[in-house]
Formats: sequence, structure tokens, C-alpha cells
Amino acid sequence: MYPLRRNRRLRTNDSIRHLVRETILSPKDFLVPLFVTEGKGIKEEIASMPDYYRLSLDLLETEIKELWNMGLHAVLLFVKVPDELKDNKGTEALNDDGLMQRAIKTIKNACPDMLVMTDVAMDPYSSFGHDGIVENGLILNDETSEFLAEMSVSHALAGADFVAPSDMMDGRILSIREALEDEGLINTGIMSYSAKYASAFYGPFRDALDSAPVDVKNVPKNKKTYQMDYANRFEALKETEMDVDEGADIVMVKPGLCYLDIVREIRNEVDVPVAVYQVSGEYAMVKAAAEKGWLDHDAVVMEQLTAMKRAGANIIATYFAKDAIRLLD
Ligand code: PBG
Repeated sequence: MYPLRRNRRLRTNDSIRHLVRETILSPKDFLVPLFVTEGKGIKEEIASMPDYYRLSLDLLETEIKELWNMGLHAVLLFVKVPDELKDNKGTEALNDDGLMQRAIKTIKNACPDMLVMTDVAMDPYSSFGHDGIVENGLILNDETSEFLAEMSVSHALAGADFVAPSDMMDGRILSIREALEDEGLINTGIMSYSAKYASAFYGPFRDALDSAPVDVKNVPKNKKTYQMDYANRFEALKETEMDVDEGADIVMVKPGLCYLDIVREIRNEVDVPVAVYQVSGEYAMVKAAAEKGWLDHDAVVMEQLTAMKRAGANIIATYFAKDAIRLLD
């Protein structure tokens, strides 16, 4: 009780503040999302994501070595698929010599210990920009799950350490786990996007991959029949518990900043590592405000990442990973 306890004593200077700091970020907390594109010598800036790029395989190799040397040892891969290879069933995703499969091999060749996680979802391959097969205005669930299982096996055979299904179909973790087991791929892990919300914060990402739902008749205009309603909290627990039961090694909450209450709740409930994804729109907001001189970029980045860890995230997928390393130094 005051004046016997004066809380400000522990805030007197940097030395004591550092000593009593409860949450410490480390390079080992971060998972680096990377966008891969066809071609050679290509490094295209994403319009709505300043300082973030789509890389061709040769430059991906350079980037991977740089990340490794900075202490960033885990990446999450996304591919930009040429329009002519897209269809309603995501057929190209199963091509064992497709861009994703080649990207995995490129990374494992250049840097065998880099942990490679791959996005498993149909949308970059879908002519309709959906995470599932579209039929009569609906997104088919079980057929899509089967597809995701095949896609996961293809990534695992190419050398992926973890597959990361980001689609929110029911039962896909079980389908994927069973398919991996059937192929003897018992050491391939699953990081499930288990509580993924239908969010307006994914806009810049859909620019990066040109993967937004298309505006044509009999195709749903949004992803609300599979991604979660952002008003819901119990549903996140239900989704996550089911994914753990089905065999998810790591679960994820996405987006980050607006959903840290969910991160904490899930961290308190489950016994597997919890990841959070600071998504493209969160990145774009910081970049835009900083560009205008309205926010201190570096300070805001560290505050947000620390808040994610404080909320209980064991893994943070972030486009700011390289900035964080610079700022931690
Ligand atoms: C799609 C997918 C999305 C993101 C990751 N995987 C977008 C979506 O669901 O439409 C978003 C990531 C980001 O915004 O940074 N399966």
C-alpha cells in the first residue's frame, strides 16, 4: 500500500526497467512470410506493402541466406500463380514441379536448416479467388479438404517441414494428417490457421498474390461462409480445440492486433504452441502512417510485436521481422 509501495521505483531508469521487463522479443519468435513469383531476377515491390517484395527463385535463394544470417530461421511461403494456370479446382497446386514445390527445393538446397512452412490453400490457384471449390454459388467443404490433403502431401514430398492450411474448411486438419501418415510423412508438421477471421485487413495480401474473390455471378463475394465472424470469441475456442484434436501441432490466430484477446484466451486453453499473424493490412497501416510522419515506425513496430508476445503468442508471423532484428540489435 502507498507509500510503502511506490511502483515508480521499478521504472526509474533503463537498467531497472530492463531488469523487470516481463516480455522480451527474440529473433527466434519470428516467422517470415515470403512471396514467390515466376521468372528470373525479379524483385517486385507490392504496391500496398511498401518495402515488401515478390521474389523469383534466384533472388529467393539470396534472401533466404540473408535471413538465416540475421538469425531468422523460419519462413512461410506463398506463391503468385500466373492467371492462365488458375482454375476452379486449383489443379496447378498439385503439380509436383509447380512454383511452390520448386521454391521449397530451392530453399532446402541453399539452406537445409531453414524451417520451411508452406501456405496450403486454394485461393492463389483458384480462378474465382476462393479457398475452396465453387459449385452453384457454394464453397464445397469435403472435396476441398481432400484437395488440401493432396496439396499438403505434395509440399511435404518437396521438402516442407510444416504445412500451414489457411482455408478454414471443416475437418481439413484430420484429412491432411491422415494423408501425411498414409504417405509415411510422419515428421511433417501442421500449423493450422485455426481461428482465422473474415477480415478486411487481408486486402494488401490479395494484391500481392492477385487472389481476391472475383466479382462474377454465382460466386460468393466474400469468404464469410468459411472464415470466422470477427464478433465471435467462443467460436475461436471451438475451432482451435477441434484442430488440436484433429492433429494440429501449432495453432494460429489471425489477424493479430485486433485479436489479441483471442490469442490470450487460446494460450490459456490449449497445450500446443500458439502463433499469431500480423497481417498485410496491419503492415500497410504502419507504413502509411509512418510515411506521412504521423507515427514513429520503429517504435510502433516494436510496441505491436511485444504486445503480441505479451498476449501469449509463441510464434509471430510478421512482415516486420527484418525490422525487428535491426531494432533488437
Ligand atoms: C489465403 C490467405 C490469406 C492470407 C494468408 N492466406 C488471405 C485471405 O484469406 O483472403 C492473408 C495474409 C495477410 O493479409 O497478410 N488463404
